[in-house]
Amino acid sequence: MFRLPFLFIATGLACFALLDVTTLAQAAGWIVHPPRSPAGWFHVHLLVLGWATMIAMGAVYQLLHVVLQKEVFSRTLGYVNYAVFTVGTAGLLAGFAAVQTRWIAAFAILAWIGIVLFAINIALTLIRAAQWNPITFSTASAVFYLFLTGLIGLAMGLNFAFHWWPTWHERLFYTHIWLGTLGWFGLLITGFSYKMLPMFYLAHGVSNRTAYVVTILWNAAVLAGAAAFLTAAPFPAVGAAVGLFTLAVYSYNLHTTQIRKAHHKKSPGAGVLAAVYSTRALAVTSTIAFAAILFAPARAADERAVVIFAWAYLWGWVALTILGYLSKIVPFLWWTHKYGPRVGKGTIPTMADLLEDRYVAYVLTAVAASLLLLIIGLGLGSDVWIIWSGAALSLFSLAYVCLIARVFTR
Ligand code: HEM
Repeated sequence: MFRLPFLFIATGLACFALLDVTTLAQAAGWIVHPPRSPAGWFHVHLLVLGWATMIAMGAVYQLLHVVLQKEVFSRTLGYVNYAVFTVGTAGLLAGFAAVQTRWIAAFAILAWIGIVLFAINIALTLIRAAQWNPITFSTASAVFYLFLTGLIGLAMGLNFAFHWWPTWHERLFYTHIWLGTLGWFGLLITGFSYKMLPMFYLAHGVSNRTAYVVTILWNAAVLAGAAAFLTAAPFPAVGAAVGLFTLAVYSYNLHTTQIRKAHHKKSPGAGVLAAVYSTRALAVTSTIAFAAILFAPARAADERAVVIFAWAYLWGWVALTILGYLSKIVPFLWWTHKYGPRVGKGTIPTMADLLEDRYVAYVLTAVAASLLLLIIGLGLGSDVWIIWSGAALSLFSLAYVCLIARVFTR
């Protein structure tokens, strides 16, 4: 089980490098402009589809194999899933960049079919394994929300081209973002962390009761928010969903603490620590968002505030966690592929030799610091600040991609 996850992860890394290079080339210009524009759609989907979803699909194929100790339902279907999703995403991105609504509609169909093939493959793998626990429940629900996110994205793409349901577009837009960010990324990251964190902290015997609570609360938040946006319910309904989400994040932080307390290894490595710290930061972000909705609802619904929360969530938590976990997943994949067959036949490097943990710590700290500056810049509305910190964020992210890609030369 190497080539399939590798294909997804390598393509995802290439998209991330492309995002960093295009952001640097235009001095972070797209971040300064309103997000709902062709440049905004292009860069946001390069991040969420080309990079994060691509990497996440590869990670699901690899980690489900580890979690279930069973083969994925069909590897061939996995390759078809990869090909269709990659072509669909590339065409969708080209459609956004060239502002061609017919391309957007056509490739949205292909990207969604890629997602459906992925969902079928994972659902059949899970059903066949019949091992139900917080990891598999979270994965199953995350994949279901990805399916819905893609379906709604497709509906919006068709609406761009043919104006079939203009009165529904705004409702679909917010539901799409909510399901994609909290549903797909949120449940996948929390679900996989129930496996990854104890593995890297060498923590044994931690009860999964809190993990069940997180899974239930997180799903409740996703469903409540989607229902509120889809029915255009009054603002307090969105507030209730954000409140549920904040509770889910607190429970997730509690579970992380339980795992840390049961550790048998002093440090899980810089990448995993970055994921843990970003989880702590997420508790702060969600608390501020909830407080803003309660005490300053008009300002909380303002576009600038929404953009800041989206950056803090998507970059501050989703991206930092994925980047951190990649420092473990990539050396594991590569070492098993290249050196696994040579175990016991002479000297071979250890997994830790493939990637210097010190460098992971330095570069991720630089990424986090520039992100913080960018968020401050967005808050101040200062274009100069946004441009410099956005450029620094891209530069350090690019350095991180190079660091990870170097593993494949070891
Ligand atoms: C088949 C897959 C997808 C398609 C066809 C698609 C399509 C679209 C379209 C057409 C828009 C623009 C809507 C508008 O502004 O009126 C949009 C916006 C957005 N989508 Fe997707 N999407 C897909 C997957 C995802 C995923 C997985 C996420 C994950 C979070 C996501 C997050 C977003 C965000 C954050 C925006 C707002 C971007 C902005 O305003 O610049 N999308 N999507």
